[in-house]
Amino acid sequence: MSIMERIYSLKGPGNVIAGIGSIEKLKNIVSEEKVKNVLLITDKGVWNTRLLEKPIEILNSSGCTVRVINDIPPEPEVSQLEVIFEREKDYRYDMVVGIGGGSSMDAAKIIAALFTNKCNVRDIIGVNKIKNKGITTLMIPTTAGTGSEATPNAIVLVPEEKLKVGVVSDKLIPDYVILDPCMTVKLPPSITANTGMDALIHAMESYISVKANPFSDTFALRAIELISRSIRRAYNNGEDIEARHDMLIGAFYGGLCIATSGTAAVHALSYPLGSIFRISHGLSNAILLPHVLEFNMDAVIDRYKDMAVAMGVAKESCTSEESARKLIEEINMLLKDLNIESPLKEKDISEEYIEEMAECALKVTRLLENNPKRLSKDDIKAIYKKIVE
Ligand SMILES: NC(=O)c1ccc[n+]([C@@H]2O[C@H](COP(=O)([O-])OP(=O)(O)OC[C@H]3O[C@@H](n4cnc5c(N)ncnc54)[C@H](O)[C@@H]3O)[C@@H](O)[C@H]2O)c1
Ligand SMILES: [Fe+2]
Repeated sequence: MSIMERIYSLKGPGNVIAGIGSIEKLKNIVSEEKVKNVLLITDKGVWNTRLLEKPIEILNSSGCTVRVINDIPPEPEVSQLEVIFEREKDYRYDMVVGIGGGSSMDAAKIIAALFTNKCNVRDIIGVNKIKNKGITTLMIPTTAGTGSEATPNAIVLVPEEKLKVGVVSDKLIPDYVILDPCMTVKLPPSITANTGMDALIHAMESYISVKANPFSDTFALRAIELISRSIRRAYNNGEDIEARHDMLIGAFYGGLCIATSGTAAVHALSYPLGSIFRISHGLSNAILLPHVLEFNMDAVIDRYKDMAVAMGVAKESCTSEESARKLIEEINMLLKDLNIESPLKEKDISEEYIEEMAECALKVTRLLENNPKRLSKDDIKAIYKKIVE
C-alpha cells in the first residue's frame, strides 16, 4: 500500500539525554522526579565491568536508596523473570533503572510493568496486553545494539514452545534514556560486532518493511550511515569514543525505526536460532542478513540503492541493480572484517532440524508480515540451508 493510503505514527521515550559524560545528568532526572527508591537492573557481565559504580555513586549522593538486581540471564526466559520479580514484589520503588544490553533493559521494562499490573509475564505476551503504565523507567544502554531504550518491545524466551516472543505495548516505552558512549567502551569486540550488526539490521529491515514511512526512512538512512562508518572502528578499538558515539546514536535511531516501522524476515528467522541453539540475537541476525537480502532484492531494489548510497558504497549515478549488488557485497565484506561466521556450519544439522526451525520461524507472523516479500516454508528452509552448510 502506498504511503498516501496509510496512517503512521511515531512514539519514543519521553526524555533522551545524550553525549559523552551524560551519565552525570542522572542526578537531574532523580531530582526532577523526586525519586527516593531505585531498583537498578543489570546482568553479571555488565556488573563485573564495574561500569555501575558511577551511576550508583550519583544516585547515592542524590539521596536515593538503590537496590540492585545483577543476575538477569542472557536473553531471559519468562519463568526466570517471574522468579526475579517474586523476590522484589513487596518492595516499593519510585524508579526502575535498566543498565545493560537488550537483556537487562527488556527485563527492566517488563519488571517495571509487573509492579503496577496484577499479572505475570505470560499474561502480557503479545500486542497491547498491558493495562497500566509501569513505574517510571530510565534506560541506559551499554551495548549499541537492540535500541530497546527507544522501543515499546521487550523480548522473552518461551522454552517449551522454542519461541522468542514479544511483549509489545506503548506502556513499555521508557520515560528517560541516557545515551553515554562512555558506558559502551568496555564492550568486547565480538559483542560490539554482533550487537552493532543487530542495530544496522533494525535500520535496514525497517527501511524495506511494508510499514516503512517517512519517520523510519529518515532515522534508518542516518543509522545506516552512522553505523556503517563506525562499526569497524569500534570493533578494532573499543576506546574510540567517536565511533562509540556514532554506534550508540545509530542504535537508538534503529530503535526508533522499530517503533514506527518494524523488523522483518531477518528477525523472524533469527528467533529460532536463539530459542533452539541459544545463538545470541545479534549473531543470529548477522549470519542471516546476506541471504535474506538476496531473497528480498527484486521486491525493493530501489530501496537497496538508497541503503548502498547511505553506506557510501554506491553513487546516485549507479543503477539500482548495480547498487543492490554493491550493498550485498559490502555486507559480506563487513561480516568478514568483523569475523562473524555462522556457528551452525560446524554442527551437523539434519533436515529434520531445518524443518523444525522453519516451523518455528513461520510462527513469527508479527514480523513476517512486515517483509516486502512473502516467505513460504520452502523459502525459509532454503535460507536456513545457507547458514548450516
Ligand atoms: N526490546 C527491543 O526492542 C529489542 C530489540 C532487539 C533485540 N532485543 C532483545 O535484546 C536481547 C539482546 O540484547 P543485546 O544484544 O544488547 O545483548 P545482551 O544484553 O544479552 O548482552 C550481551 C553481553 O554483553 C555484555 N555486556 C553488555 N554491555 C557491556 C559492556 N558495556 N561491557 C562489557 N560487557 C557488556 C552482557 O553482560 C552480556 O554478556 C535479546 O533478548 C533480544 O531478543 C530487544
Ligand atoms: Fe534485533
